Amino acid sequence: EQSERDSLFIVSDFAAKHFQQRLIAHEQGSIGQSYLKQRGLSAGTIKRFELGYSLDEWTDLTDTALKAGYKQQYLEASGLTIVKEDGKKYDRFRGRVMFPIHNVSGRVVGFGARTLKSNDKKSPKYLNSPESDIYHKSHVLYGLFQAKQAMRMQDMCYMVEGYLDVLSLHQGGIENVVASSGTSLTEGQIKLISRYTQNITVLYDGDAAGIKASLRGIDLILELGLNVSVVTFPAGEDPDSYIQKVGDTAFKAYLQEHAQDFISFKTSLYAKEAAGNPVKKAEAIKEVVASISKIPDAIKRTVFFRSCSLIFDIDEQVLISEYNKMHLQGR
Ligand code: CTP
Ligand code: MN
Ligand code: MN
Ligand code: MN
Ligand code: MN
Repeated sequence: EQSERDSLFIVSDFAAKHFQQRLIAHEQGSIGQSYLKQRGLSAGTIKRFELGYSLDEWTDLTDTALKAGYKQQYLEASGLTIVKEDGKKYDRFRGRVMFPIHNVSGRVVGFGARTLKSNDKKSPKYLNSPESDIYHKSHVLYGLFQAKQAMRMQDMCYMVEGYLDVLSLHQGGIENVVASSGTSLTEGQIKLISRYTQNITVLYDGDAAGIKASLRGIDLILELGLNVSVVTFPAGEDPDSYIQKVGDTAFKAYLQEHAQDFISFKTSLYAKEAAGNPVKKAEAIKEVVASISKIPDAIKRTVFFRSCSLIFDIDEQVLISEYNKMHLQGR
């Protein structure tokens, strides 16, 4: 007998194919196609990532699925169909470019969906599938299915924020790239990456707020024993906009030139902010020592204490005693 999960996989697969068909063969699909073209995505990328389009109509997917014999129960449980209290049904995703989200084995478990409008305050830029029996957001990374082989071959994984970042980099020949899709990184996601590589390079959107917000998530990567580097981009750019602007070759060179070890990056960031202010400097040092103390490997910790002492111009022994203090307090 078919399980609930099997039924959810089957209806999600049907929906992905439906949205693909709408993009390629429906007259309204040309709206989606020209949007993707304007974003610089090729037919090959669209096909590889199974991108689609949801018609700007209330019940296109729901009607088609019910007519084909799919049960309302599963359309609802997957979040594709929303059922109101009066029993009226409508499609969650309408008039959007559809990004199917795959699990590690390549089965569709949910969708991200982007509005085509550039600045519509009324509807969110992205809508996403809700959690379901097959979609646990904390255990899924966008692009992992398409990236995993390259991650193993290159022994490295690029982490980006968004769907478009994954697609543009992949198209530019950087295939070892995954996105956390806006949520902060979880232990489950890092463990997924660590099946393929122990090395993560985080590519931040080029805004200070974004950088500060992701620092905590990175401590989690250190705690799990992986190595982390970071690359920042000029203000206002994200990896997608930057590769589209400068081209593949210059982008790859930029990554090589600007990759910094995370601890050195964080130390410099805090040291700069605290310059000339002893109170801030003390806080900054504690903050950085807290990150270093997450690293399980004692030799790596020693190396980082040394470079940190140079950047802050402070005796290494002071850092180590601060570490010991934290450690005794149970961190
Ligand atoms: N996101 C989301 N809901 C939103 C905004 C963002 O789920 N309302 C997630 C999406 O996964 C998105 C990621 O956070 O890809 C990064 O957000 P942002 O940088 O704002 O979007 P971009 O991916 O850069 O999208 P675009 O280039 O199309 O503006
Ligand atoms: Mn869950
Ligand atoms: Mn952003
Ligand atoms: Mn973007
Ligand atoms: Mn972005």
